[in-house]
Amino acid sequence: MSQHHLGVVGLGVMGRNLALNALDAGVDVSGTDLGEDAVRGFEDEAAQDGHQVTASTDLDAFLDALPRPRNVLVMVPAGAPVDAVLKSLAPKLAEGDLVIDGGNSFFKDTQRRHDEMAAKGLHFFGMGVSGGEDGARHGPSMMPGGPKEPYARVAPILEAMAAKVDGDPCVAHLGNGASGHYVKMVHNGIEYGLMQLLAEAYDLMKRGAGLSNDRMGDQFAEWDAGELQSYLVGITAHILRQPAVVDVQPHEMPGDETPPENMTGKYLLDFILDTASQKGTGKWTSQDALDLGVPTPTIDVAVTARYLSALKQERVAASALLGKPAGRVPGDPEELVSALGDALLAAFLVTYAQGFALLKRASDAYEFDLHLETAARIWRGGCIIRSDLLETFREAFRADPDLPNLLVAPAVSEKLIGHRGALRKAVVLAAQAGIPTPCLSSTLDYLDAYRSEWLPANLIAAQRDYFGAHTFARIDEEGMHHAQWEPAGL
Ligand code: 6PG
Repeated sequence: MSQHHLGVVGLGVMGRNLALNALDAGVDVSGTDLGEDAVRGFEDEAAQDGHQVTASTDLDAFLDALPRPRNVLVMVPAGAPVDAVLKSLAPKLAEGDLVIDGGNSFFKDTQRRHDEMAAKGLHFFGMGVSGGEDGARHGPSMMPGGPKEPYARVAPILEAMAAKVDGDPCVAHLGNGASGHYVKMVHNGIEYGLMQLLAEAYDLMKRGAGLSNDRMGDQFAEWDAGELQSYLVGITAHILRQPAVVDVQPHEMPGDETPPENMTGKYLLDFILDTASQKGTGKWTSQDALDLGVPTPTIDVAVTARYLSALKQERVAASALLGKPAGRVPGDPEELVSALGDALLAAFLVTYAQGFALLKRASDAYEFDLHLETAARIWRGGCIIRSDLLETFREAFRADPDLPNLLVAPAVSEKLIGHRGALRKAVVLAAQAGIPTPCLSSTLDYLDAYRSEWLPANLIAAQRDYFGAHTFARIDEEGMHHAQWEPAGL
């Protein structure tokens, strides 16, 4: 018998994989789900891996099987299902029990649930889990937040389950209240930004330079082997080179395993409709950044780009009426490709910097007591935004925990100064060719604005005062001022 116990509520693919991961780590696991099939499926899979588990559709039986104080991981879809599970669970739990919501819950819901559970003498963590199904099974990055005291109890379990980087587990107690889900939300905001940047680089190489999928796949693989090493660049290389026929299931070709002729030599990516949907975490990031007054344009624009992609029918109609914008990028395609690698590096740096700046402000505003070095450390492995750059960011926050923005950390600014010219080149070439690069462009704008000692906001202050007597600050006198502006039309 292991001394560590974990109960898992919700045995869908994420819950089941985390449960199997915990079993592999030597934890005693019980599971429950409303569906008989999910329960049996979990038992069977655990048995195949040589594990014995207690699993039941009956909540009382599930809870009885857990030693106290209980550790219960809830893995159900975000929103109403989480409240429904907590409503059933809470009256059956005992003081000191810990419930962990491992879904992608909205942080304000998590704060409310945390307070409601605390009022009942129960501990509650909101925990972001990143890495998809495979990560859940073999090592995710986990972002728990909530009361510190019960964390020590589950730390050995979570650390054993987490991805490791040089033996260091990608999990840590992040901070108070809803900090865990907040950090996961910002992780996803950064994820949206990086994904859109990669899509724009793909577009520039595809429509702008006419490169083949294989050539582009090789290019992303080359970038993944260098300074841009990251999970998302790596999977992009694989996606580009995936043949179309792999996705054709045998049952779609009865009696004949040979792919139809028109599919051979083609790529799956080219058969995928150009619309991207979203479950909302990127939008929440932008919404909260706006509420807190933190500029995160790369993330905002990445969310908007998904909305634009969803307007497929409108885009098709507008294209017929207004003409297609995209043409070839002028000059040598190889020059474009070389600039793009450096441009992506600069843009990645800026995107992460926006996310961390938001975390810093949110930590103060919501009293999370976050340590940005810790967030950078547990994002180095297991999660979707993992990359070699995270080590640089971790070191930057270790050297200066109060950094207002990663862009002014010496190691980051050095890289940025070396690569920002390429970002400008990529944006200029894209504009000349008419290829939309909203994230590359807004990232460059953010960078240029952030390093502008002077910005033209004096004119905006003057306009506000002109039409609304909103007053303005002066550079040469203290206090707020109002001017008698010349009336319009004179
Ligand atoms: C992760 C991912 C994951 C997210 C999907 C889909 O860290 O493993 O962020 O949590 O749900 O990537 O997100 P969207 O539907 O919003 O793109």
